[in-house]
Amino acid sequence: MPSSTLDLPILAGSEFRVVRENLTVRKAGMRDIPALLQLINSYAAQGIMLPRTEFEISENIRDFTVVYAGSQLLGCGALHFYSPTSGEIRSLAVAPEAKRQGVGVFLIEALEKEAINNDLHAIFAFTYVANFFRKLGFQEVDRGLLPLKVWKDCLSCPKFQCCDEVAVFKALSPMRHHF
Ligand SMILES: CC(C)(COP(=O)(O)OP(=O)(O)OC[C@H]1O[C@@H](n2cnc3c(N)ncnc32)[C@H](O)[C@@H]1OP(=O)(O)O)[C@@H](O)C(=O)NCCC(=O)NCCS
Repeated sequence: MPSSTLDLPILAGSEFRVVRENLTVRKAGMRDIPALLQLINSYAAQGIMLPRTEFEISENIRDFTVVYAGSQLLGCGALHFYSPTSGEIRSLAVAPEAKRQGVGVFLIEALEKEAINNDLHAIFAFTYVANFFRKLGFQEVDRGLLPLKVWKDCLSCPKFQCCDEVAVFKALSPMRHHF
């Protein structure tokens, strides 16, 4: 499966849709919630991702992009606006049977395009798979660069005192103030 940069159209909400080699990438809708919960929470049960409730996913459904093969959800990822100039990539997950086939790249490309379309200067993530993000042009940064993050999410995380995630960051513009 090719991993070249997609020329994604600029379309709003559920109109956003791109097809590549029988895969469809589009913004998520409420109908995707059961499959999203299943995918995310199966990884959460292994301690790889933060668990999400139906309420949290409903509240943030507009952040999510999904990849489908027919009616099967292969992957998801969310772009959560963090400041007027930066966004966080969250809840990135590819179904076990679809891993290592470019779905993760497909999702990051779509989320990055969405960030650019929304005039963001930078995107970042907290992750256990820093090497995956490095391949996509992200660099590891000191988590102290993202101070507000602590108050937004980390306080409620069970790993707050012993966090082993890495912060990765990608500049989307040459602006000096990315946050
Ligand atoms: C991490 C994850 C999203 C990657 O998705 P994927 O569809 O398997 O990745 P891709 O096939 O698009 O891989 C793209 C590149 O990253 C590499 N890669 C994939 N997973 C990797 C990993 N865990 N560690 C290091 N590199 C990885 C691939 O080898 C590939 O490189 P190549 O083109 O040189 O071969 C997927 O493994 C996953 O859902 N993991 C469990 C949940 C998770 O950890 N989410 C991240 C939370 S931030």
